[in-house]
Amino acid sequence: MSFGKHITFSTGAQLPQIGLGTWMSQPKEVENAVEFAVRNGYRHLDLAMIYENQHEVGAALKKVIPSVVKREELFLTSKLWNSAHQAAWAEKELDETLKQLGTDYLDLYLVHWPIAFPPGNGLNPPHATKEDEIAIDTTTSLVETWKAMIALPKSKVRSIGVSNFTIDQLKGIIEATGVVPVVNQIEAHPLLPQDDLVAYCKAQNIHITAYSPLGNNLIGRPKLTEHPVVKEVARKLDATPAQVLIAWGVYRGYSVIPKSVHEDRILSNFKQVELSKEDYEKVTAIGHGNYTRFNIPYTYKPKWDVNIFDEPIEKAAALKVKIH
Ligand SMILES: NC(=O)c1ccc[n+]([C@@H]2O[C@H](COP(=O)([O-])OP(=O)(O)OC[C@H]3O[C@@H](n4cnc5c(N)ncnc54)[C@H](OP(=O)(O)O)[C@@H]3O)[C@@H](O)[C@H]2O)c1
Repeated sequence: MSFGKHITFSTGAQLPQIGLGTWMSQPKEVENAVEFAVRNGYRHLDLAMIYENQHEVGAALKKVIPSVVKREELFLTSKLWNSAHQAAWAEKELDETLKQLGTDYLDLYLVHWPIAFPPGNGLNPPHATKEDEIAIDTTTSLVETWKAMIALPKSKVRSIGVSNFTIDQLKGIIEATGVVPVVNQIEAHPLLPQDDLVAYCKAQNIHITAYSPLGNNLIGRPKLTEHPVVKEVARKLDATPAQVLIAWGVYRGYSVIPKSVHEDRILSNFKQVELSKEDYEKVTAIGHGNYTRFNIPYTYKPKWDVNIFDEPIEKAAALKVKIH
């Protein structure tokens, strides 16, 4: 059985390049998906408290550890949710994640978003007066949260990183602490190449994990797997469109975490195909003049009234990210 290629982190740790995403994997589906994936070679799982399915992932892990894999052969990533960004809360939430997963450590723990919510009132605390909004904690800074991540016991977390961070947000936490995140997990597909952010991360030795590699869309457009150019390259390579999109991320040096709960897709997504420079450029070109970021919390319902990425639609937001 092939276990796929690995990325070596700045710390020397080894990350399997293709992992299984689990966001929106439904109850019962996710347990089967994780068990099936591990039985078929996946060693990297992308998890989070906010996906509210980690206990099911834990049930699947029980079925495969140690009969199929040793714990240390798996690479488990999870994420600190916004409502536990405060120094007094971060380790408590980590402990809850470890309990849900039935493990005593994570390989990688990420700050899920550069936004804090007030703690102690659920994962999505409602705004006190505005029905369609989430409450934002405007006092806890990214630097405070990053310091809380740095202070987590190494016995519980092997590496720390961030997710959905921009260049300015990364610079802010690095300059304040001298500690560089090992990973920035970001939305990354041909419609959102983010070349400046990618170049900055490369210069800082921050590895990029690509989420929504298939262009999972929250705004009702067809998925990128339906794009005629992606389909054409796939036909030529005798591959699936998803394999082409995953290979596009791999070509750029990312690790890639496609989500599926279907066994045939879990298998085929894991099978790496390689793009020639010409095919890579063909797929890249579909993003020219077609820039699209799908995941913008300002557009969620209920919304987070904060400008994270400085996208045009976010300019109307009342709040900015509090870096310091
Ligand atoms: N850090 C963050 O803020 C963040 C945000 C978003 C996502 N993520 C992580 O990244 C993972 C992947 O991102 P994502 O779930 O947004 O999107 P994605 O992996 O790009 O796309 C998932 C969608 O594509 C479908 N799909 C899977 N394989 C396919 C194939 N071979 N052909 C056609 N369709 C296929 C899945 O359906 P089926 O399941 O029905 O196959 C699902 O609807 C998440 O699960 C999560 O772990 C992180």
